[in-house]
Amino acid sequence: MEAETVKKKRIFSGIQPTGTLTLGNYIGALRNFKLLEDEYDCVYSIVDLHAITVRQNPTELRKACLRVMSLYLAVGLSPEKSLLYFQSHVPQHAELNWVLGCFTYMGELNRMTQFKDKSQKHADNINAGLYTYPVLMAADILLYMSDLVPVGADQKQHLEISRDIAERFNKIYGDTFVVPEPYIGKVGGRVMSLQDPTRKMSKSDPEDTYVAMLDSADVIRKKIRRAITDSDSEVRYDPENKPGVSNLMSIMATITGKTMDEIALEYGSKGYGVFKDAVADCIIAELEPIQKRFNEIITDKAYLQQVMTVSAERASNIAYRTMLKVRRKIGLAALKL
Ligand code: AMP
Ligand code: TRP
Repeated sequence: MEAETVKKKRIFSGIQPTGTLTLGNYIGALRNFKLLEDEYDCVYSIVDLHAITVRQNPTELRKACLRVMSLYLAVGLSPEKSLLYFQSHVPQHAELNWVLGCFTYMGELNRMTQFKDKSQKHADNINAGLYTYPVLMAADILLYMSDLVPVGADQKQHLEISRDIAERFNKIYGDTFVVPEPYIGKVGGRVMSLQDPTRKMSKSDPEDTYVAMLDSADVIRKKIRRAITDSDSEVRYDPENKPGVSNLMSIMATITGKTMDEIALEYGSKGYGVFKDAVADCIIAELEPIQKRFNEIITDKAYLQQVMTVSAERASNIAYRTMLKVRRKIGLAALKL
């Protein structure tokens, strides 16, 4: 990675190991992660410290962590090309989080819409971590001197605050952090809920609203057949008036590479039943090989252990260097005088 003559730009992204990953996570994140691997120096973190901002069952969380790592590997991400590691294995995330917290204003955090949403959803546990969540996210990104961060609309505000914190720090102490830019992907887009196609497909919604990456073929077919469409029967791309059908078309287009016109031509008048079966077929064909590899990897503890150890060490090396710089800049007591 470091020996490249032309330095590649660094991309950082994180996924929380909560619940199960969905087709939305696949199309909006994992699939793109793979496409970016050759062109960029990629750091893909499994952000387990972010996950505990809402109460987690320890056994479930532990399993979800290994599941996400196995899915990273099963979609074909390479631990040699990219850094695939757990956030909590690199303690500097938490350390930088504290430092950056001292450069973040409450007024800024008060404006975060995700905090407002999540505090409504978890009214019995509005903890300080949930409030300072964007600071930890800034620490993730800045720790690796990341140039680019692929973000969905819901994370834009968090990336903005990361940029503000980096700029503020640089202004006070001189050039320290790279100020990250949003990365807008060429492909992908948002996958919408199967039951309410005006909302984003989300792993925290009920089962029938999403396809999980690990759903069996039968379950996928059932869920797609039950997906909400309209009372008309024409397969036509019209997100405004036909959000359900348009969502299915866009899933099919992303997976198969067909254009909307080609799909409309092929299924336009065949009725929703035939079209939905074809959508289910292409999702199943895409996910089956991934599931097969996933099942091999999740039981291969030695391989997982090796990836985890090597990656945590490589990530720690970068993180250590950044923290050394930060400590020096702000004047913390040096260990060696
Ligand atoms: P989350 O599941 O919200 O933690 O998101 C993890 C990653 O998956 C982020 O990069 C999101 O932008 C992406 N993602 C999650 N849900 C969707 C969706 N329905 N459509 C597209 N991308 C998504
Ligand atoms: N907050 C992000 C989400 O919920 C996850 C995340 C944590 C992240 N740290 C990050 C994403 C750094 C991009 C960069 O999706």
